[in-house]
Amino acid sequence: MAYETILYETRGKVALITLNRPKAMNALNAQLIAEVTDALTHVEQDPKLGASVITGSDKAFAAGADIKEMASLDFVQAYVGDFISPWDRVGQMRKPVIAAVAGYALGGGCELAMMCDFIIAAESAKFGQPEITLGVMPGAGGTQRLTRFVGKSKAMEMVLTGRLMKADEAERSGLVSRVVPSDELIGEALAAAEKIADFSQPIVMMAKESVNRSYETTLAEGVRFERRLFHAMFGTEDQKEGMDAFVDKRTPQFKNR
Ligand code: CAA
Repeated sequence: MAYETILYETRGKVALITLNRPKAMNALNAQLIAEVTDALTHVEQDPKLGASVITGSDKAFAAGADIKEMASLDFVQAYVGDFISPWDRVGQMRKPVIAAVAGYALGGGCELAMMCDFIIAAESAKFGQPEITLGVMPGAGGTQRLTRFVGKSKAMEMVLTGRLMKADEAERSGLVSRVVPSDELIGEALAAAEKIADFSQPIVMMAKESVNRSYETTLAEGVRFERRLFHAMFGTEDQKEGMDAFVDKRTPQFKNR
């Protein structure tokens, strides 16, 4: 795979995807999104890989959709070309994807991070949906996902004023799972991904699917869905291994598949 706008490497069972358009603050153009989704699809198809980390640079995770690429579009080009829909693939991956965010995560950058399963932020991270300052509004899920993460009042203020949120406020509000010192960001994100990748792959995938279901359904239906998957887990060798290992006071050796 020869990529031009991202760096892709694997470390054991984990893939590290680094957004790499330094001259444009990692602005998300069509090529970059195509490369990110191609890399994530490769992870999905490789049984040896169990999780991915998406990161950017110290200065910017990503400063949004590429304004220069979309500035001249008219309505028909935007609507028929449907240039945001390829981004949705990021949120549809079945293996876990962690966003490791330092610096700016603005507009589509914040939206890309929110499509991941959780966000670990460096102290330098700044999140925002400043599209209103460009005469538009978020178009890659920001009005929906940010509201679910931080609640209506904060989301509405950020979307209507373009105010940025620093890392500590993002953690207090539930946008990020935790904040770490900037020089520990990649190490912490990779460690979390490695931990996930060492667990049973089908069980991890079902757990992710079940948590995500809570966004799509009522509590009663969600609990029913969870219960079905929970019962199904008793048909896996990894459930036997995990519980036998606990009883035997030893470390489980999951088959991971
Ligand atoms: N698209 C295209 N190019 C961008 C960009 C973007 N979103 N963000 C930054 N760049 C480019 C700049 O144009 C500049 O390029 P040149 O050197 O060729 O002029 C380069 O990156 C460096 O940027 P700055 O000189 O502006 O750097 P700074 O440190 O002074 O400011 C910043 C950094 C605050 C992130 C600022 O660049 C900025 O405000 N960027 C735009 C943020 C934004 O509005 N994002 C929303 C985009 S719309 C969107 O995402 C829609 C959606 O929901 C899908």
